[in-house]
Amino acid sequence: MPHGGGAVVEDALAKTPSSAKDIVVEGLEKQFGDGPPVLRGIDLSVRRGETVALIGANGAGKSTLMRCLLHLVKPDAGEVVLFGVRLSRVRQRELRRVRNRVGFVFQRHNLVPRLSALANVLHGALGRSPFGALHRSLSPAALRDEAMACLERVGLAHLARQRADTLSCGQSQRVAIARALMQRPEMLLADEPVASLDPAAGEEVMDLFTSLARQEGLTLVFTTHNMRHALTYAQRIVGLRDGRIALDRPTTDGLDCELAPIFA
Ligand SMILES: Nc1ncnc2c1ncn2[C@@H]1O[C@H](COP(=O)(O)OP(=O)(O)OP(=O)(O)O)[C@@H](O)[C@H]1O
Ligand SMILES: [Mg+2]
Repeated sequence: MPHGGGAVVEDALAKTPSSAKDIVVEGLEKQFGDGPPVLRGIDLSVRRGETVALIGANGAGKSTLMRCLLHLVKPDAGEVVLFGVRLSRVRQRELRRVRNRVGFVFQRHNLVPRLSALANVLHGALGRSPFGALHRSLSPAALRDEAMACLERVGLAHLARQRADTLSCGQSQRVAIARALMQRPEMLLADEPVASLDPAAGEEVMDLFTSLARQEGLTLVFTTHNMRHALTYAQRIVGLRDGRIALDRPTTDGLDCELAPIFA
């Protein structure tokens, strides 16, 4: 794979993992089979603690970019540096370690349907340390208390015992957020986290999500088709079009006139 390594990547790598840039992407390219290129050279840096909304029309490549950030989809070219770790250079084990520092929330919550809300949240702890070590370092009761505290933070402690497949969409997405918190992540990536929720529930979950990220100082990147969410909850909007970044602005700039070309 032709992996480059330009100045921004080198700069990110020169710093310690506590580098101020949690995400550095340079020259990222991705094509599936002989389809058209989906990502055609993406350059993007996200500072620690920053909240970024990723927007773009259907098929613009938002989900592909999010997946490439964790190498869940392998880029054809370019570099992703997360927490100062160049993903193209690490083995599977180190890659897993980096992924475990990131909570990923999808449009559909991906809960285990037959398990309780609490058990689903407990799953968030699994990637936190090597298998078994977690249980040696923390008692089951301590883990349970922590999972309950995570459910409390999303306002659902009273539903801890309820099976996931009996929860509403909004409740399920809150449980998915609690599970991500249980991971003790340093970063949250959320791909259309509220797309399946009604407007009021969507607002509530976005509000919860972004305020939790702020309280914890977590870096947060979310994709959305809801421009109001992007403008209200993010500090910065990045717009994808034709596989390239067509817009990258702070939300304080007043973006209305610039959004049209992203969706044209
Ligand atoms: N695994 C895959 N195999 C083949 N093509 C894919 C795959 N994943 C994505 N694509 C294609 O890549 C393009 C970008 O898809 P992607 O899901 O990243 O867009 P998106 O911006 O997230 O769209 P949406 O707003 O609808 O979620 C689409 O044309 C899609 O068909
Ligand atoms: Mg998508």
